[in-house]
Amino acid sequence: MSETRPPKVAVIGAGTMGSGIAQACAVRGLNVTLFDTQAEALQRGLKGMDASLARIVRKGGLTEAAKRAALGRVKATADLSGIGDADVVIEAVFEDLTVKREVWGRVAEVAEEGALLASNTSSLPITEIAAGVGRPERFCGLHFFNPVPVLPLVEVVRAQRTSEETVERAKTFVERIGKTPILCDDKPGFIVNRLLIPYLSDAVFALSEGVGSAEDIDTAMKLGANMPLGPLALIDLVGLDVALAAAESLHREFQDPKFRVPPLLRQLVRAGKLGRKSGEGFYRYEETA
Ligand code: 3HC
Repeated sequence: MSETRPPKVAVIGAGTMGSGIAQACAVRGLNVTLFDTQAEALQRGLKGMDASLARIVRKGGLTEAAKRAALGRVKATADLSGIGDADVVIEAVFEDLTVKREVWGRVAEVAEEGALLASNTSSLPITEIAAGVGRPERFCGLHFFNPVPVLPLVEVVRAQRTSEETVERAKTFVERIGKTPILCDDKPGFIVNRLLIPYLSDAVFALSEGVGSAEDIDTAMKLGANMPLGPLALIDLVGLDVALAAAESLHREFQDPKFRVPPLLRQLVRAGKLGRKSGEGFYRYEETA
């Protein structure tokens, strides 16, 4: 990555996280290629970016012109060859190891030899994703938090074969987009999800056991522990499918009952109740994002 010009970024996957990452980069002046195989996903991603940027403009955080300029820096494409000139490639596709490895197999064929390669996985082992890529020393985790335009943290995850140079490049990149990097080892859940997911799962168990209503559980944690959002509303924001994948991964990797997966979470996912993005999770939402 040249120090003299802004790095070009490619984001693979235009879902909530992918489009949030693309937005965060574009707002900081970086050109972004947003790739997805689904045209509807690209359209939804661009719409979400527009809405998020409009919100920032309304709050006085950005001018209308800066919003237009940021959107102008994002090129949405369903053609993977469009990512070939990127200095940084960040993958944010569905949390499934087979899917991620298949996607990385194709991405590695077109990505520039020297590009920094990163997965935004929330809980899968980076070392395992990197294993099929062919240049594991250039591969690391860059774990962003939802909503990406608002939350400043990025976990930089060092996998077994990530080089020190890659870690340094990753940290510099994170700072370049105005976020705060922390370094974690490639252990399940890294730091945030290792601590956060058991708390979220416990809230689902509390609901299933009738300890309180969803509203009262959330109010309890907002007003009694000063959380910005109650745990069930937070699962709705993150996506029930994403929270389930993270909970399953922690349970599978640690084999420790403290990471047990709440059956209610699984049932809701099976019923298609994925949270805000599907219009219903623990709560109902007027508009799907
Ligand atoms: N885009 C742009 N701006 C947004 C936004 C978005 N999508 N969502 C919220 N904002 C802005 C608002 O405009 C507002 O701006 P202001 O400070 O200038 O007024 C500010 O953020 C606060 O928003 P609100 O006043 O609407 O509401 P809240 O005060 O409740 O904040 C929240 C909303 C930022 C989502 C806050 O509730 C929060 O931080 N919740 C916790 C989120 C969290 O824990 N995320 C981590 C999830 S774990 C994860 O992502 C990892 C994964 O691997 C599972």
